[in-house]
Amino acid sequence: MRRVVQFSTGNVGQHSLRAIIGRPDLELVGVHAASPTKVGRDAAELCGLDEPTGIVATDDIDALIALGPDCVVYTAQAETRPMEAIEQLVKFLSAGINVVASSMVWLVTPRLADDWLREPLGQACESGDASLYVNGIDPGYSGDTEVHSALSLVTRATSITVQEIFDYANYDDYEFTGKSMGFGLSPEDEDPIFYVPGVLTSMWGGPVRNLAVQLGVELDDVTQRIERWYTPTRIECKMATVEPGQMAAVRFAVEGVRDGVAVITMEHVTRLTAGAAPEWEYPPDGKTGVHRVVVEGEPRVELNTHVSHPALDVTEAGCVSTAARVVNVIDWVCRAPKGLIAVEDIPQAEVIRGLMW
Ligand SMILES: NC(=O)c1ccc[n+]([C@@H]2O[C@H](COP(=O)([O-])OP(=O)(O)OC[C@H]3O[C@@H](n4cnc5c(N)ncnc54)[C@H](OP(=O)(O)O)[C@@H]3O)[C@@H](O)[C@H]2O)c1
Repeated sequence: MRRVVQFSTGNVGQHSLRAIIGRPDLELVGVHAASPTKVGRDAAELCGLDEPTGIVATDDIDALIALGPDCVVYTAQAETRPMEAIEQLVKFLSAGINVVASSMVWLVTPRLADDWLREPLGQACESGDASLYVNGIDPGYSGDTEVHSALSLVTRATSITVQEIFDYANYDDYEFTGKSMGFGLSPEDEDPIFYVPGVLTSMWGGPVRNLAVQLGVELDDVTQRIERWYTPTRIECKMATVEPGQMAAVRFAVEGVRDGVAVITMEHVTRLTAGAAPEWEYPPDGKTGVHRVVVEGEPRVELNTHVSHPALDVTEAGCVSTAARVVNVIDWVCRAPKGLIAVEDIPQAEVIRGLMW
């Protein structure tokens, strides 16, 4: 039985919290909440369960450390506050507490992460004899496990394209995702954070470069491209209300280029409502979202992953899967050698233990 703290209960965190409460092999011992409206409330209430757990949310990190958990599931918004997030992660790791996280997406490929991330976190793992593992659905699954599955079916690959094609209309996250992607901006507005040169390549370039390393391929460059779509009519949806002339869809990609040709591409086609950017690609079979890998080669392989849920929107189902990517490795991470863990370090059969209950 692993004793676990859930850190934050946002889009991803509420699903990891539910999973921890439900699983017989994990014991919830603490919950962090930053928001004063959540502090003092029972964990069950914070993830929509009826039966109280007796575990009450706190904003006191030292009190959570004092509980001596085996692992923290860290799902706080971190890309907008990386230095503060590093400080929080360092506290847990140097106290000997393992961390699995959906946050700090740069660490999905930890060996290629910049020194400002690797050094403090690596040192904290070293001094605390603890491990840190970061993953999700995208970046994460679509650029590692899904690609590896596709590549296992070919004798030769000439190109790899990873796509997330999603309708974010019902994704209730304007503050980070909506703003960062620039929904609702006019052509004359300043670019949002994602489109500042180098930001996309910092977030999705890691998986591109990591695949190149794994394939033994030398890339000449890793580049980014962005296309915006401005709506001619007003769009009202959960993510945002977008007025005519404002951005309601975006297509962006990070490309690993060799001899002038993009050989490894990670692309996002993100629209608000199905009517936006009608000339761009849609998920197959009338679905609202897909994580797709296409390997051109011998033979051609196309994998389309659709996550869905009877009660939740597909973007929220994607958050459940993001939670799964990290909750499912808790036991293994607790047994792992200290340090920053990459997905390729984990034997794949290990991540399904405890799932059927
Ligand atoms: N790789 C993937 O596939 C993938 C997919 C989805 C998300 N993510 C990543 O996972 C993380 C969480 O995403 P999300 O959509 O769940 O985020 P979110 O709902 O926007 O925010 C998560 C939580 O961050 C907490 N927070 C905000 N400011 C804080 C602060 N100063 N100190 C401590 N906590 C703070 C809030 O906690 P309280 O509620 O307690 O106030 C909030 O609930 C992000 O870093 C995101 O990039 C990755």
